[in-house]
Amino acid sequence: MASVLDVRDLTVRFDTADGEVCAVDGLDFSLEAHETLAVVGESGAGKSQIFLAILGLLTRNGRASGTAAFGDHDLIGLDRAALDDIRGRDISIVFQDPMTSMNPSLTIARQMTEVLERHQGMGRIQARAHAIGMLEQVGIADAPARFDTYPYELSGGMRQRVIIAMALLCNPRILIADEPTTSLDVTLQAQILALFHDLKQAFGSAVVVITHDLGVVATLAQRVMVMYAGYAVEISPVDDLFDTPQHPYTRALLNAMPRVDREQSTLVPITGQPPNLERLPPGCPFHPRCPQAFERCRIERPPLETRGVRSKACFLDWTAAPVATGQAVP
Ligand SMILES: Nc1ncnc2c1ncn2[C@@H]1O[C@H](COP(=O)(O)OP(=O)(O)OP(=O)(O)O)[C@@H](O)[C@H]1O
Ligand SMILES: [Mg+2]
Repeated sequence: MASVLDVRDLTVRFDTADGEVCAVDGLDFSLEAHETLAVVGESGAGKSQIFLAILGLLTRNGRASGTAAFGDHDLIGLDRAALDDIRGRDISIVFQDPMTSMNPSLTIARQMTEVLERHQGMGRIQARAHAIGMLEQVGIADAPARFDTYPYELSGGMRQRVIIAMALLCNPRILIADEPTTSLDVTLQAQILALFHDLKQAFGSAVVVITHDLGVVATLAQRVMVMYAGYAVEISPVDDLFDTPQHPYTRALLNAMPRVDREQSTLVPITGQPPNLERLPPGCPFHPRCPQAFERCRIERPPLETRGVRSKACFLDWTAAPVATGQAVP
């Protein structure tokens, strides 16, 4: 399959009062056309900064190096105007809190038609019709009536639908959803996930979904990238990841995940402290929390090695069967 995005040696650093912090370190991954890639890992693992860097949206104290090939462009270091063109037209991003992606003082109509006028060169009337059609497509009942309202007049679930409609307006090749359902209640989460699923079929965009929720991963993604302290520790097709997790951190995440097919009492929280990026240990960043760490892990950082469709950054041997650390993964 052809990659729509190919990221090599992506590094993101921030200047802070206490010195430099490396949020993403030498990351390699690609996104295939039409696939859904889930990015998982604990808070602070670097998930959001990967995509903010690629879209030129880092805060002022941040900077990125490496390459992110998108068509003929390298998005890292592309000038502002060119990135502004690509963002919203070819690559869209949806954030956890819909209000951060909306202008509270403009109507939904204005915000949506502006995108179409700017990126697609549509006239007023055509843009209105197209935008209303998109609202209908994301399941907004009575879309023409909702169109001329302000964001605060909508419920949280409806706002999230509007944001998704806005993200899809220009039929992007890549849709990035950063914790798209975290702020919603469980019923709405399920509805928005079902919507993503349907829209993916309809639009055929490649989707990146950043999430803490392995349930989201299981229902939506074909592949998973597991992040730890700015590194990708495992990249695998979703079924393989659940069946035979290769990295001890992936196993720990799975063991900590509530599952319908398992007693609540078998949940095993991940032990130890989440990593402090300002003071990462030498060797593998996960070694202080790893039940299987050995001498080499404390000295050398394991590179990401690939075998077939899977990659892992761990010195342990590849395992073909579920490993019985904590609970076996059924
Ligand atoms: N503006 C900033 N200034 C300094 N450091 C930052 C800044 N933004 C992010 N970082 C650093 O980058 C790390 C990764 O941040 P990132 O937002 O990618 O985490 P995340 O994996 O998306 O977490 P979450 O699940 O909580 O959203 C943070 O832990 C923090 O150390
Ligand atoms: Mg984040």
